[in-house]
Amino acid sequence: MKITSQTKIVGILGYPIQHTLSPQMHNAAFAQLGLDYVYLSFEVKPDKLGAAVRGLKALNITGVNVTVPHKERVLEYLDELSEEAKRLGAVNTIKLKSGRLCGYNTDGEGFIASLRAEATDPVGKKILLLGAGGAARAVAVGLANQGAGKISIANRTKERAEALVNMLKHIAPQVEATSLSLDDNRLDKCAAEAQLIINATSVGLKSGARPPIAINSFHVGQLVYDLIYNPAKTKLLAEAEAGGAKILNGLGMLVYQGALSFEIWTGQQAPVEVMRDAITT
Ligand code: ATR
Repeated sequence: MKITSQTKIVGILGYPIQHTLSPQMHNAAFAQLGLDYVYLSFEVKPDKLGAAVRGLKALNITGVNVTVPHKERVLEYLDELSEEAKRLGAVNTIKLKSGRLCGYNTDGEGFIASLRAEATDPVGKKILLLGAGGAARAVAVGLANQGAGKISIANRTKERAEALVNMLKHIAPQVEATSLSLDDNRLDKCAAEAQLIINATSVGLKSGARPPIAINSFHVGQLVYDLIYNPAKTKLLAEAEAGGAKILNGLGMLVYQGALSFEIWTGQQAPVEVMRDAITT
């Protein structure tokens, strides 16, 4: 692709940033559609976040993704927020519109889109969500908005699970939401009854650790979704698969949250399969 004075610049702000797969995913999509955009990664230390975001305006950058550790702190530098970003208190996508910095959050919708791509619909489902951090909040709100039946949220720090349950009760009172701590003795029963189990904790990330769910909780007819994609098959997923459950890793969510960001910046439908291939082959 030829970069000229007309090329639109997008990218990602994070720290550290060297392992991000987003540049290859988005640049493959731009090439596929013949769009004159380039996606770059920007290593932005926490104390430089304000200067970096103000710099987007000064340089007329089309938009960026925002990742760890900036998703929450970036809000104070933006001019407008989508409903989703306001609700989650976190932004993963910024677009410069008529000189104004607008913040969005595509994580929850990206998660739901990745489920639907696997022909799974959350409507009426019994769900066990492990974790109550930023990723878990986005997933929980996405599931609640889509009409999940029952969501049990288990987190090491119980207060965070309780806070997320209270938020769900507020935005989607029809959903039966309950909180547990990870060492609650009801956890295994909850897991066995769940049709969908989601790991949104960092347990298993680049390590052989696993969330504390009894191996015999997994069975045929369940979907176990680990938001982690490195390793591609966490210990949790390997055990769930051995128990007969269908498994999914976090690559799907990564692809679909990116696809939604792509659509915000370009106004064009993202070539999802091209984006997936770019980070898996
Ligand atoms: P993210 O943006 O990826 O969600 P986060 O907001 O820091 O990151 O959330 C990390 C999640 O992993 C939290 O649910 C956290 O539990 P706490 O709220 O108790 O901190 C969970 N987590 C991280 N390390 C963990 C561990 N060793 N055991 C259990 N849960 C862990």
